[in-house]
Amino acid sequence: VNTSAGGGLTVGVVGGTGYAGGELCRLLLGHPAVSSVLPTSRGEETVERVHPNLLGSGLSFLPAPVLAERAAELDVVLFSTPTGEAMRAVEHYLDHGVRVVDLSADFRFADAATYRRVHGPQHACPHLLAEAVYGVTELNRKQLSQARLVANPGCYAITAILALAPLLTLSGTGDRVSVHAVNGTTGAGTTPKRALMHAEVAGSMLAYSLDGHRHGPELEDVLTGLAGRPVEVDLNTAHGDFARGIHLQANVDVPSGTRREDLLELYRQFYGPGADGEYFVRVNDQPRRGGLNTKDYSLYPTVAAVTGTNFCHLGVDLDPARGIAKIVAVTDNLVKGAAGSAIQNMNVMLGLDETTGLRGYAP
Ligand SMILES: NC(=O)c1ccc[n+]([C@@H]2O[C@H](COP(=O)([O-])OP(=O)(O)OC[C@H]3O[C@@H](n4cnc5c(N)ncnc54)[C@H](OP(=O)(O)O)[C@@H]3O)[C@@H](O)[C@H]2O)c1
Repeated sequence: VNTSAGGGLTVGVVGGTGYAGGELCRLLLGHPAVSSVLPTSRGEETVERVHPNLLGSGLSFLPAPVLAERAAELDVVLFSTPTGEAMRAVEHYLDHGVRVVDLSADFRFADAATYRRVHGPQHACPHLLAEAVYGVTELNRKQLSQARLVANPGCYAITAILALAPLLTLSGTGDRVSVHAVNGTTGAGTTPKRALMHAEVAGSMLAYSLDGHRHGPELEDVLTGLAGRPVEVDLNTAHGDFARGIHLQANVDVPSGTRREDLLELYRQFYGPGADGEYFVRVNDQPRRGGLNTKDYSLYPTVAAVTGTNFCHLGVDLDPARGIAKIVAVTDNLVKGAAGSAIQNMNVMLGLDETTGLRGYAP
């Protein structure tokens, strides 16, 4: 760790103009151990014009090649670039002793053939795939603490993994998981598309990639590993009429006779109670109120409750007549789904308290 200059950490953000890159800058500016944030851009715009929320922050963009020349100054570099970019650039930073977290999909699969099947191109750096640690912090903390290179999960993937990990430890659960998720429009990045303009999305919904979202194989890989048997994922994705947040519902068959209370106990055991358990994963275990046909909305978490935060809130319920467990998970796609997780992983890699700079609740 090159913390000598000023005592704080120096962190590079490749892709600083993007939605996730802007969120990395916002969160790093509030991180008490970070003294310098160096975001990159290929354009001419200032930070204030691209991210008006960072007005007066003092940040300025530098070209990515200049950041690469300054690698020796960095403690960590966070790649927030489209899939296909980081795999061409990370080795240079690793060679300079810089820890790397990649928010794209370049290092999420252990083998190059799967990368090619899911993403298309040949992998440019296959020899680093086996080394990269998949960054669901709650599940891989030990490996992350020793990692040089972390593959941050996809936003749908991490939300679904946190929703389903406890359930897949239960014997007798089904081998097929059905996931329906609605993401804010920031999930699509900053590349302009008519279908994503406010005029098109406002008051509407936009389903996409139902023939096979690229987070599906990522999710199957991880859930299969957790369950110790093949798990198939039916992933259904859409954009909703909001800028950020994922509202995800996952259904899995469970053995007949399973009660909601049994599932809640499983989730409480897995994640621990409230702030004394996993800090960023909170299980809503409100008792059900009212009788038949009462709509008890308080059983399920809402996107608004986690927006701007690194939390994943989970609601747990069951259709007892059909033996289907129904989990509702909400995250902010730009925080727990991207920048927040990346910083949580950075904290673990550097031996810091993993909640450093990330503890805030939603307004
Ligand atoms: N948005 C989300 O909810 C989310 C969640 C989890 C993970 N991710 C992943 O995080 C990454 C960034 O997502 P995003 O939504 O922030 O995308 P974005 O808004 O489209 O931003 C992409 C960024 O990458 C930069 N860039 C593109 N090509 C580059 C290159 N060759 N060299 C250096 N910089 C380059 C762009 O910079 P210029 O301005 O210079 O073009 C821009 O800053 C993606 O891999 C995405 O899949 C996104």
